[in-house]
Amino acid sequence: MTERCQGDTRPRTGPRARTAIVLAAAALLAATSAAFLPGTASAGTTLGASAAEKGRYFGTAVAASRLSDGNYTTILNREFNSVTPENEMKIDATEPQQGRFSYGAAEQIVNHARSRGMSVRGHTLAWHSQQPSWMESMSGSALRSAMLNHVTQVATHFRGQVVAWDVVNEAFEDGSSGARRNSNLQRTGNDWIEAAFRAARAADPGAKLCYNDYNTDNWTHAKTQAVYNMVRDFKSRGVPIDCVGFQSHFNNDSPYVSNYRTTLSSFAALGVDVQVTELDIQGAPAATYRSVVEDCLAVARCNGVTVWGIRDSDSWRASQTPLLFNSSGQKKAAYDAVLAALNNGTTPTDPPTTPPTTPPTTPPTTPPGGSCTATLQDSTRWGDRFNSQVTVSGASNWTVVVAVTPPQKVSNTWNGSPTWDSSGNVMTMRSNGSGNVFGFTTMANGTWTRPVVRSCTVS
Ligand code: G3I
Repeated sequence: MTERCQGDTRPRTGPRARTAIVLAAAALLAATSAAFLPGTASAGTTLGASAAEKGRYFGTAVAASRLSDGNYTTILNREFNSVTPENEMKIDATEPQQGRFSYGAAEQIVNHARSRGMSVRGHTLAWHSQQPSWMESMSGSALRSAMLNHVTQVATHFRGQVVAWDVVNEAFEDGSSGARRNSNLQRTGNDWIEAAFRAARAADPGAKLCYNDYNTDNWTHAKTQAVYNMVRDFKSRGVPIDCVGFQSHFNNDSPYVSNYRTTLSSFAALGVDVQVTELDIQGAPAATYRSVVEDCLAVARCNGVTVWGIRDSDSWRASQTPLLFNSSGQKKAAYDAVLAALNNGTTPTDPPTTPPTTPPTTPPTTPPGGSCTATLQDSTRWGDRFNSQVTVSGASNWTVVVAVTPPQKVSNTWNGSPTWDSSGNVMTMRSNGSGNVFGFTTMANGTWTRPVVRSCTVS
């Protein structure tokens, strides 16, 4: 048998190749029909829908205080399918006094997102900055215990609601040292990062656990190499790390570099997902935004891109006008470039990182459902996840119940409003005015069973 590895572009032959061709043709057909079906206008016309068709998310940082701004929420709800609370899950926000937790603002964002089918990135559980004063003044074993308790409490509180946690944020020095940042957390012992990851895994076992940092974009920089070495070490010793976040705050002092794709793919080759977590670019040059998105799409394990705010006026660097919408909420040239990159981008189909499995072969599911029917079709498949598309006929105000097989998890949906049962495995999708075709991404977690449509009812 001939082994294939990532990047192997030799033509495939044999039955599996024919299956792959059929699947690819089916995926192409599904994608094409989605694009031309009446009533599915969001396919390819918004950042989130377009990214979802590539098996990715397109997210933004969200501030709870802005959710009452109609211009802001209109753009948020239309364009994005992932959110990161900008400040509301930080330590000073969630544990302002030791042992007294405060989740109101974070919950406001999480509920807003999840009720609209957007996924949530949790930011951030352990960080030297934005610590409440009680934590800033702690040290040694007391601080270590307090930090671990914080990780445990917050991750437990939001268990099952957060797709990926930034478990540890910004733990390395800038410059050429490649050293850990000298913080109160670092002074509790060099193993504080892995201890935080283990606590997070125990508290929220279904979430992906990320290390997140800035100035780690240039593959040649010492800081990038230092984080890479830490991740490689963690993977070799079984420390539970699943992903690395690249903040990607680009400006004149810290510009985008053409080896960014090399950075993303090199980390991915360690066996972690990579995510662009806080993207903003001074002056919002369209070509640079396009390059960042193309780089992510070129790496199969790049799950998605999050911009750090919606309108320029929402940015922590507002004077640099670094975002995709101007302060009035109008789309900028960078927006068009990003959307074009998402729509034009190739869909990597790297071989699964798990042993090859037989794709689902059962016929499309069309259960009886009152006066509507829902038909599930396979769409694109990647090494760790796959997309499904459900076409509803017979009603416009439909409710469709879909079940996935544990440990599968739905990580993303589009063109519908989902709610979940307590197990998180049964999704009730309701029409949201986006037409009669909805889709979702399932993280396989080693199980490739096709999701099942349980019912279709008229609401
Ligand atoms: O809400 C208070 C307001 O009541 C008060 O009057 C005002 C006075 O300074 O402060 C307001 O809080 C500010 C908060 O942003 C909300 O605007 C804080 O002072 C300010 O420090 C905070 O800045 C945030 C910064 O992280 C520090 O945590 C930015 O919004 C946020 O965009 C930024 O995000 C970070 C990521 O978490 C990690 N990576 C870098 C990124 C950019 O710095």
